[in-house]
Amino acid sequence: MVIGSKVIFKDSLESTNNFASGLLKKEALPEGTVVHSNYQTSGRGQQGNTWESEAGKNLLLSIVLYPRKIKPADQFAISMAISLGILDHVRDIVKGSAIKWPNDIYVADRKIAGLLIENSILNGSIIQSIAGIGFNVNQVDFPGYIPNPVSLKMITGNEYDLSENLRILLSKLDKRYRQLVSEHDRKMKSEYISSLYGFMEWRPFRTIPDGNIYGRIVGITQSGQLMVEAEDETIREYNFKEIEFIG
Ligand code: BTN
Repeated sequence: MVIGSKVIFKDSLESTNNFASGLLKKEALPEGTVVHSNYQTSGRGQQGNTWESEAGKNLLLSIVLYPRKIKPADQFAISMAISLGILDHVRDIVKGSAIKWPNDIYVADRKIAGLLIENSILNGSIIQSIAGIGFNVNQVDFPGYIPNPVSLKMITGNEYDLSENLRILLSKLDKRYRQLVSEHDRKMKSEYISSLYGFMEWRPFRTIPDGNIYGRIVGITQSGQLMVEAEDETIREYNFKEIEFIG
């Protein structure tokens, strides 16, 4: 097992991603080292957002990876592998989960987990990747400003053992990470695409370059842009923040 080869637990941290990156500056850590915590004082989300999580209720972790075989141009593959690992775990517990492009995990129309991957690139190689995961497990009350949150407990009514949940999640992530570094990524990419929220469903989208369009998600590019077929049968490619579902 690579992921989880070493596990560092701290009751409270500023951010598990920050802690992992600070530690890497001071000491060598084996690949797959996991930093996890019960609480973060400054949990970070995508696009400079914060990640809020009630103390001791959810999984908050960062994984240290050295995916040197992955070229910087293909770095979205890391995101695909980690998203699929979380999805594999969620799918074993609840029905109706999907990956909301690029890397949010949804159950029906609500977000159960988010991912913040921070890659360090030097001389044309990814020398280190810190994959931060926030996974809502037992929290049932969320601040009103968080859009569409959900947790396992809100869906099933059951309370989950966090250590057991972490153990299973790490084994799913480990399987996907091995797939990423050992196999051609074509199979993983097709699994990722077919797991996308709204895949092949005709829906209205708000886009920055093209205004509102009606279209369907048909794939992703090598660099992870979303490919959407519009009504005029053209395939358009969008970066993160250039497109969102309407409604
Ligand atoms: C997002 O959906 O905006 C990404 C959320 C990522 C949150 C996790 S919690 C553990 C790790 N440490 C952080 O500060 N952020 C990530």
